[in-house]
Amino acid sequence: MQKNWKRYTVTSALPYANGPIHIGHLAGVYIPADIFVRYLRLKGKDVVFICGSDEHGVPITIKALQEKVTPQEIVDRYHTMIKKSFEDFGISFDIYSRTTSKVHYETASQFFKTLYDKGIFIEKTTEQFYDTELNQFLADRYIVGTCPHCQNDRAYGDQCEKCGTSLNPTDLINPRSAISGSELILKETKHWFLPLDKFESALKKWILEDHTEWKTNVYGQCKSWLDMGLQPRAVSRDLDWGVPVPVEGAKGKVLYVWFDAPIGYISATKELTPEWEKYWKDNETCLIHFIGKDNIVFHCIVFPAMLMAEGSYILPENVPANEFLNLEGDKISTSRNWAVWLHEYLQEFPNKQDVLRYVLTANMPETKDNDFTWKDFQTRNNSELVAILGNFVHRTLILTHKYFNGQVPLCQDVTQSEFEMLQQIAHIKINIEQNIETFKFREALKEFMNIARIGNKYLTETEPWKLAKTDIERTKAIIAICLEITGTLAVLGQPFLPFTTQKLNEMLNLPSISWDEIGKKPIFKAGHLINQPEMLFEKIEDEAIEIQLNKLKSAKQHNTNTLNIQPIKDNVSYDDFSKMDLRVVTVVAAEKVPNTDKLLKLTVDLGTEQRTVVSGVAHCYKPEDLIGKQVCLLANLEPRKIKGIESKGMVLFAENNEKLVAITPLESTQNGSIVK
Ligand code: 2FM
Ligand code: ZN
Repeated sequence: MQKNWKRYTVTSALPYANGPIHIGHLAGVYIPADIFVRYLRLKGKDVVFICGSDEHGVPITIKALQEKVTPQEIVDRYHTMIKKSFEDFGISFDIYSRTTSKVHYETASQFFKTLYDKGIFIEKTTEQFYDTELNQFLADRYIVGTCPHCQNDRAYGDQCEKCGTSLNPTDLINPRSAISGSELILKETKHWFLPLDKFESALKKWILEDHTEWKTNVYGQCKSWLDMGLQPRAVSRDLDWGVPVPVEGAKGKVLYVWFDAPIGYISATKELTPEWEKYWKDNETCLIHFIGKDNIVFHCIVFPAMLMAEGSYILPENVPANEFLNLEGDKISTSRNWAVWLHEYLQEFPNKQDVLRYVLTANMPETKDNDFTWKDFQTRNNSELVAILGNFVHRTLILTHKYFNGQVPLCQDVTQSEFEMLQQIAHIKINIEQNIETFKFREALKEFMNIARIGNKYLTETEPWKLAKTDIERTKAIIAICLEITGTLAVLGQPFLPFTTQKLNEMLNLPSISWDEIGKKPIFKAGHLINQPEMLFEKIEDEAIEIQLNKLKSAKQHNTNTLNIQPIKDNVSYDDFSKMDLRVVTVVAAEKVPNTDKLLKLTVDLGTEQRTVVSGVAHCYKPEDLIGKQVCLLANLEPRKIKGIESKGMVLFAENNEKLVAITPLESTQNGSIVK
């Protein structure tokens, strides 16, 4: 940002079109990018703000498989939904495209073809795991097995999440398909590899020497990748969903999603303007990628290597990646529904986009993971937006109407302390600029709010409502100064609070003013008429917060009910297993055991005999629910006396937390049939 760039290309990570957008996405990527871009536009810079849906990749095909629809239907659904959420929250992309667009297919194919023709790729045939039930090769994430290091039997083909070791699928013991559960075979397949190792020294120089100013989290991650040494990486996959590999002998193969997605930035720019090349190929263009920390390697190593290999593109000037946002102390998770979804938020807090933007900026996970809590959301709204910003603006506008019929009064004189206050505000403006330009948006917002704090303090100290009776000239000066501060807030607040500042601009009847004009000359001329004020923010009551907390509570409840899956126990020998005598039996009588909560006394028919068994299921089944049902009995379990009743065997139930479900045969079978 030090250089005087001619123009800017700002991209924000293309979200996968396989689910809606939540607050973590906004705080991590899209709000920082939007603040940055709005700021540049206000400074009159030439900037394009690029985004779109990332519509390829295995998770989308899996979701389609699960829902029995086509991948296209999945991406159409979520693309529309995501696009709307961004619009609703004022994320001001110049284009929101998608990677299934025709232009993207052409651009990505051409990009691959150029690298192919230059002989960049290594073609390699390797053996990969193949799911014979699904008839497809599996991505590493969809292969599970036992970790060779810690014996966790739910390790993934790329990583064991228990011990953190990064793995290859072939490292796994007993690898199987996470989708179909079937065993896997190794099958030969050919792929194209990008030789990252060949770009290692150029990348090292570019990042480690020339970009020491990058955020420490980004620089650190790049350094550790580069220090480990780069390996060739496959850029194609065996899949039928994606951009087909555009060369001979590549039937059934598509570009790896991480090869095509970043090219999506280029395709979207092409769709936006015929002058797209100047935004990608001119050294006077500053390219910035806003992303989350999980995307660092792709944007700092892989994509730049692709761009270097192609040869005609510029490299990013900065990649300000954020860390993650948690929710109420827990990781945001789509599958556990532990999230605040944007579309739901807007239903519950209509027209309060800026409140969420404000809270997410104030808590932005810039240097470490951060937490969003509903209580903090309420406090920041009530004690900051309402009590500081809203209060100052409202008082100023009301006083202007009360004493001057809505006309900006003439300020004839400023006192020394007023002069100093205005200087302080000018200094704050510089701080905001510096913070935004170095991607410190939390600090920038804090500084912005300091202007409103100063205004509030000034109003409280000068008390123009009292002075109006005795000194109307001073009152005029004070209100005029307050209006200047309000106008300053209306302009400098635009990157952070676009909806509020638009409303404020309308109330102030302000023409559009650029960032740089603020502080150079007065915003208002005496006599300028302002409109009737409206409240900018309103208090959020405890009840509204309770509703949100209850919603999360029930998500948690649901999760503990459904996700209490225990790890698999150690193996037993076949001999040990065959020692157990499992039989199908019919419950012929059942009654509650007196003075107990959970026990039922069951009489079961084994075909050759009837037996009494005591089961702890009374909290889940009434006696009549079980009578006449066939269930499964461990018949040779040592007899035990329970509450004075001899129990001979154990009826089997599936257990999830407290809930028990009887195991019954799919079809009725003879009592006494062996279960094996
Ligand atoms: O992590 C993600 O959500 C990816 N879809 C980001 C892609 S960014 C870019 F390369 F397109
Ligand atoms: Zn492990």
